[in-house]
Amino acid sequence: MNPIEAQKRIEQLTHELNQHNHNYYVENNPTISDYEFDLLLKELHNLETQFPEFASDLSPTKRVGGDVTRKFETVVHRFPMLSLSNTYSEEEIIDWAQRLKKLASGPIEYVCELKYDGVAIGIRYVNGKFSRAVTRGDGTQGEDISANVKTIRTIPLSLKGDFPDDFEIRGEIFFPKANFEAMNRQREELGESVFANPRNSASGTLKSQDSKVVAERGLDCYLYGVYGDDLPMESHFESVRKAQEWGFKTPQEKNKYILKTSSIEGIMEFIHYWDRERYNLPFDIDGIVIKVNHYEQQADLGFTAKSPRWAIAYKFKAERVATILEEVTYQVGRTGAITPVANLKPVLLGGTVVKRASLHNADQIEKLNLYLGDEVFVEKGGEIIPKIVGVNEEPRKTDAEKVLFIEHCPECGSELHRREGEAQHYCTNDLVCPPQVKGRMEHFISRKAMNIDGLGAETIDLLYKKGLANSVADLYDLTFDQVVNLDRMADKSANNLIVGIKNSKIIPFERVLFALGIRFVGETVAKKLAFAFKNIDAIAKASYDELIAVDEIGEKIAIAVQQFFRDERAIQTIKRLKLAGLQFEIEEVSLDSNMLEGKTFVVSGVFSRFSRNEIKELIEKNGGKNVASISAKTSYVLAGENMGPAKLEKAGSLEIPIISEDDFISMISL
Ligand code: IVH
Repeated sequence: MNPIEAQKRIEQLTHELNQHNHNYYVENNPTISDYEFDLLLKELHNLETQFPEFASDLSPTKRVGGDVTRKFETVVHRFPMLSLSNTYSEEEIIDWAQRLKKLASGPIEYVCELKYDGVAIGIRYVNGKFSRAVTRGDGTQGEDISANVKTIRTIPLSLKGDFPDDFEIRGEIFFPKANFEAMNRQREELGESVFANPRNSASGTLKSQDSKVVAERGLDCYLYGVYGDDLPMESHFESVRKAQEWGFKTPQEKNKYILKTSSIEGIMEFIHYWDRERYNLPFDIDGIVIKVNHYEQQADLGFTAKSPRWAIAYKFKAERVATILEEVTYQVGRTGAITPVANLKPVLLGGTVVKRASLHNADQIEKLNLYLGDEVFVEKGGEIIPKIVGVNEEPRKTDAEKVLFIEHCPECGSELHRREGEAQHYCTNDLVCPPQVKGRMEHFISRKAMNIDGLGAETIDLLYKKGLANSVADLYDLTFDQVVNLDRMADKSANNLIVGIKNSKIIPFERVLFALGIRFVGETVAKKLAFAFKNIDAIAKASYDELIAVDEIGEKIAIAVQQFFRDERAIQTIKRLKLAGLQFEIEEVSLDSNMLEGKTFVVSGVFSRFSRNEIKELIEKNGGKNVASISAKTSYVLAGENMGPAKLEKAGSLEIPIISEDDFISMISL
């Protein structure tokens, strides 16, 4: 292709892909298959690599992140980013609305919106193109975090329709609850510390120096304000509706997220509705914002030093109750991490009875200056687990006992250690510490690891107590006679267990590697290592440099891997597992056969071992056929992560088998 053709094709692809992104993420209405989308994206990426002179900063290929920013540039806001005056009192909202009635000329229309609990952002668009995204900062100047913001798929890079030449749109970036919880589950699995609440982690994520991290976490954004000189719109409501037309995700997306009303009763109803319903939203809100709708009236009302007179925020009360701290106990995790837990006199909070609250770590206890029997205040904010936010020291008795962090493991009595730079204490005696020994086995048998049917935490506990299993390798030596004698075991369940263990021997290597429970080696990292080194011996022998050369393997993981394989006990366990017949090398797949002849596949979602295109190629090379949409004639739906719900439903209704990447690999394995 010559440069002129290349430039044209790049422009065309950019336009098309932006439109498809919008259809998919904002409209929830894709018009092409994921596969076709991928092909276009790949074509664009290839052209951009070949002709970097035409690669735009606004290319849809930027959505996947990868731009590393050393430092964020400071930008002065063209329009200061003010805050809102706020109140927890309904009375004050009524007073405010009534006061405005006197100040403004003519009847007032109000617009009520959700107050998203996230991070404020201002994004400038020049000639319909994303120009830069700046944080609020101190209100006068903020930081340019464009590379990170561009990875948020609901934020358009190019606009549609009739937009002003130069304007700024403001809104709130937040962490959807489901994505936040998924991230924390993953971190927990890796033995990493979990984040306390979605707002702070959204803010932390946006300050990341590596936009790839942002792309992976799944932040989202609602835009709620348009700023510019001589804008053609006359009211806030109109401008939000226009913004929705230009391609932004705004509160107009859902009827109930925004309300235009002329009455104070209307405002109150909106407040009461969301005070009850806020827990059912897929994201956190911390109140309601009420704005005067018409720009002319807004201008008449003007500003105080810090905030506009024409808007106010009603904040929901974080639910807080007082109760008594009865005891502090300590939990020992699979990795030996010690978590202190406050045991409270049961109290009702946010519709549930709370008996325990997390205390995080030793520093937190010290900061709160806790004594047993203290009256403490417990709050349920954005956090999933309630926390102690304060102590009433007044009624404390003079002989009350101060809470001191333990020095020995509550489970095995070993001395605790605090690693350099970490807040958590650890029990390092993992050889004998029961929750660690059992935890390793529980992790090993779990669904995403060896997925052993008929074996659960309770049975692991019994096996451990009876001295039948101390390490994962012991599981493969168990006999029917041994297990049938355990409490509550019948012939059938004992048999299921033995069969389940035997069947796990065909679980592919990458999952066996994950099951071993190496620190920081989660599912994804295990796959990367397995496919890069092909077998366990190569991983065990790999040098630090060889390890970090693998995509997504950093210093921390490389060190943990090397440490794991230096441990003689790990080597012995692997030796026994190998003898038992577990998979310790990658299954090679067939690159050319007629194994799939006569079979048609619909491939959807994100895969781990292969890219979607590689899977498509494998299907064809083995005699199968790819089709874009599901019909009664489809033989299989090959589903990766994040497959769309519509496809799943359709496959279900036509009773087409849905297979995983692992199932597919087994189909074409040699
Ligand atoms: S309007 C002049 N609308 O709340 C102020 N703000 O304390 C214009 N916020 O910094 C702000 N949801 O980060 C507005 N629907 C909404 C909002 C909202 C959340 C945040 C925003 C702002 C803070 C004000």
